[in-house]
Amino acid sequence: MATWSAPGKVILFGEHSVVYGKPAIAMAIKPRVQVTVRHSRYYQKPNSPYISECFRLTDVKGSVYVRSQLPSASGLGSSAAVTVATLFAINDEFELGYTREEVGDLAFEVEKATQGGRASATDTYVSTFGGLVFIRGSEKRRLLPPQNLSIVIGNSLISHNTAEMVEKVAELRRTSPVIANGIMDAIGGVTMEAMHNLENPKELGVLMNRNHALLDALGVGHPVLSQLVLAARNAGAYGAKLSGAGGGGCIWALCSKGSRNRVAGAIEDCDARPITTSIDTEGARREKDE
Ligand code: PMV
Repeated sequence: MATWSAPGKVILFGEHSVVYGKPAIAMAIKPRVQVTVRHSRYYQKPNSPYISECFRLTDVKGSVYVRSQLPSASGLGSSAAVTVATLFAINDEFELGYTREEVGDLAFEVEKATQGGRASATDTYVSTFGGLVFIRGSEKRRLLPPQNLSIVIGNSLISHNTAEMVEKVAELRRTSPVIANGIMDAIGGVTMEAMHNLENPKELGVLMNRNHALLDALGVGHPVLSQLVLAARNAGAYGAKLSGAGGGGCIWALCSKGSRNRVAGAIEDCDARPITTSIDTEGARREKDE
């Protein structure tokens, strides 16, 4: 029996356009998914398509037990965390000998296959390694996390489907390529600016607001997400934007220590769920078997 866990994430900048080779910045967060895998002759097909794909790809048979602190279908990377933790547990239980890097690559293959072929390595990479990461095409880097990144997440409690939102953007690219590509170029520009301002919360907040507006223009916003980002900004956040695929799911707000509680309260007043969390720097890790 082997038990591994992997963290969730927020995409700070660059979701959607990262699928088309533009840069993105993501951060692992404390809530985790824990997966136990046990060698077993009696293989029962798992309910999750991500877990099924992990077993198919590694060609082993076992039983799985999942415990999650992450809400699913909310843009906090629960499917990537399940995939990463499952693959590490399989690797351990069946002594497959993959390195951390290789497990991360396999996790990306699983996500891509399950998302209909369109995905970036953002979620799986950040869940594997933890910390703050930069992704652009095949370039993946860990960044030095800024000292005072105080964030509040707002879960709209509206579930979204990542594959559907990714397809929506692909459709805009087919029907209006000039508009779609223009918006994605702008998101890429905002993300690169953010890279140079990671230690400057005021400027980062302005860039978050711009990124949110561009995602709205791309068609992945939602009235409740707009309400949440406005509420967070009015409560004193430096900036706020949706995180992940959009169409529901979560927003994140960058706060000073002093405004954190006010921002969380404003999110609650919108009947959404605030999550005050911080960066996870460990990534996937082995847990004690229970
Ligand atoms: O729904 P999430 O949080 O898993 O976000 C997916 C992020 C996208 O950029 C929309 C897709 C991807 O694979 O990067």
